[in-house]
Amino acid sequence: MRLDGKVALVTGASAGIGAAVAERLAVAGARVVVHGRDAERTAEVATRVGGAPVLGDLALPGVAAEVADAALAVHERIDILVANAGLGWSGPFVQMRAEEIDHLVALDLLAPLQLVRCLLPSMVERRGGHVALVGSIAGRTAVAGEAVYAATKAALDVFAESLRLEIRGSGVFVSLTVPGVVDTGFFSARGRPYDRKRPRPVPVADVARALVDGIANDRAEIWIPRWLRVAPAVRALAPGLYRQLSARFGEQVMPR
Ligand SMILES: NC(=O)c1ccc[n+]([C@@H]2O[C@H](COP(=O)([O-])OP(=O)(O)OC[C@H]3O[C@@H](n4cnc5c(N)ncnc54)[C@H](OP(=O)(O)O)[C@@H]3O)[C@@H](O)[C@H]2O)c1
Repeated sequence: MRLDGKVALVTGASAGIGAAVAERLAVAGARVVVHGRDAERTAEVATRVGGAPVLGDLALPGVAAEVADAALAVHERIDILVANAGLGWSGPFVQMRAEEIDHLVALDLLAPLQLVRCLLPSMVERRGGHVALVGSIAGRTAVAGEAVYAATKAALDVFAESLRLEIRGSGVFVSLTVPGVVDTGFFSARGRPYDRKRPRPVPVADVARALVDGIANDRAEIWIPRWLRVAPAVRALAPGLYRQLSARFGEQVMPR
């Protein structure tokens, strides 16, 4: 898809990956609707990319539809949806409160589904567009201490694959970006810093470059870094070995 002149909505663009994607899309000539929750940071990014800010807490019921409507109202169409806003949670599942589960599922899974529901029909009608979902390696490999987060990202993964099949030939493409560890405020936002030596966090600009190239080239999957593909391949081909390796080298998270 040619990006110049296209209208893109990037959720969670007030920081991290979303802000970098908004910048990259603007450099490629797209008009960007910058979504965020924090008014000041969202306005700052919108000014930087010459875009329009749209605010909303996507974990609240009904807000994804409001954000989609507000974004559509800016240029009367959205050609590219980058459903990126998200939050992690780290710790033993048995210590997770009911409302923490609801919040994570609402933001990381239900909001992207609702945004796609609102914005996809007009893309299909115009026979062109791109839905870019932001998943995680956690959704492909499973991570101790991130069971619910990993479950939301795995669900997004299967949603992307199913939707891609459903709308093939429509002129609308669906991509899933699968980042490993990225150098953003994600870890402080989830309340537990990234404290492992490896894998080293990837610069946010690399993720934005790959994601936007993926949209420009109608790619289905974007892996950052690319070698990450090895882990789910081992899991699929040799699940027993995979479990042994992840028990040995993965996170150790026991109830406190
Ligand atoms: N960083 C990583 O290592 C990593 C790895 C794999 C996947 N990911 C995924 O990448 C995406 C972006 O993460 P990031 O690393 O860029 O994190 P980040 O720097 O913490 O940015 C998160 C973004 O999501 C927005 N957001 C958070 N809660 C929200 C809510 N309730 N309603 C609306 N917006 C909300 C934030 O908006 P405000 O700041 O305005 O509240 C911010 O713009 C997420 O989906 C994450 O799961 C990240």
